[in-house]
Amino acid sequence: MDEARRRLDLLWRRGTEFLGTELAIMGGAMSWISDRHLVAAISNGGGFGIIAGGSMMPDRLAEEIAATQERTDRPFGVNLITMHPQLDQLIDACGELGVGHIVLAGGLPSTAAIRRAKDTGAKVVCFAPALVIARKLVRSGADALIVEGAEAGGHIGPVATSVLAQEILPQMGGQVPVFVAGGIGRGEAILSYLEMGAAGVQLGTRFVCARECVAHANFKQAFIRASARDAQPTVQVDPSFPVIPVRALANKATQDFIDFQHRVIERWRSGAVEQKEAQLEIEHFWAGALKRAVIDGDVESGSLMAGQSVGMVTCEQSAAEILDELVGQAMAALSLRESRDPVGV
Ligand SMILES: Cc1cc2nc3c(=O)[nH]c(=O)nc-3n(C[C@H](O)[C@H](O)[C@H](O)COP(=O)(O)O)c2cc1C
Repeated sequence: MDEARRRLDLLWRRGTEFLGTELAIMGGAMSWISDRHLVAAISNGGGFGIIAGGSMMPDRLAEEIAATQERTDRPFGVNLITMHPQLDQLIDACGELGVGHIVLAGGLPSTAAIRRAKDTGAKVVCFAPALVIARKLVRSGADALIVEGAEAGGHIGPVATSVLAQEILPQMGGQVPVFVAGGIGRGEAILSYLEMGAAGVQLGTRFVCARECVAHANFKQAFIRASARDAQPTVQVDPSFPVIPVRALANKATQDFIDFQHRVIERWRSGAVEQKEAQLEIEHFWAGALKRAVIDGDVESGSLMAGQSVGMVTCEQSAAEILDELVGQAMAALSLRESRDPVGV
């Protein structure tokens, strides 16, 4: 096993050096979930926790960063959403508190935003949903990339992690550290992406049932009960009314959203509402829905954002236990290969 750990450490060395951690496993930011408690627990467990700053105002973010710093002296990052009206002030708050890594999510970040984040002294990580965008982000100054496929929980693109990884790792892996996310539930999968050239990985769904995670017991129970096929992307009923796809566990709200779209579109067809107004009504359907499920425990009308790896969430564990399990699985897979390969070919 010592030899397996040595090989694993070599495989993800670029990632651990970039993050300043023992393990190149990032706990992806999850709104309402990735706060001081979960972030510090992941970082204290050897991984890299990331605060979800997307829905916070600058003062609130500063408070969360300071509280996390009180709970861990290990590195952690902050995830910001590029369309936030106070993005510049949020970046400045990270700078003032010496945050080492800023993740820019939720749309293509401008070169100016990347520059501003880098000027704080932080390393900047961006999401690359396609190879051309990966190239552009690196030209704009991104220090590392996250490649996240459609298996992930939350907002998703159309392409599977396995395909994005094949498209982007061989081209970009030599230029900047690339982290793979979406659908990763076990250490064997982590190992295979590292062997394809990833510097590390990012997991969200697997950390929701961490003991330190503040999510409501109902939310965690829904994860423990669910299987992969329950984590479905949102359904769009009419191409004229686009819906941003989000992967979540199917519940009453999933069906309500389909019925709601039909009703709104019917009103538009009858001339009762303008198209723009109808589109806005559809977009507002999910407002506050994640908080309702995560914080209030309303698993019927709230949004149960979850990735397909939810089937591999079977109980509540500490963040450190989850990380140990993932590392153990990766090492066991490496050891198995060594035993199958006695002549070292
Ligand atoms: C409940 C939930 C909330 C999420 N919220 C955010 C978010 O606010 N910002 C973001 O960039 N990603 C968000 N994500 C995506 C995660 O950061 C991570 O990239 C993703 O969960 C990885 O895929 P996995 O779920 O298959 O592990 C969220 C995911 C989940 C499950």
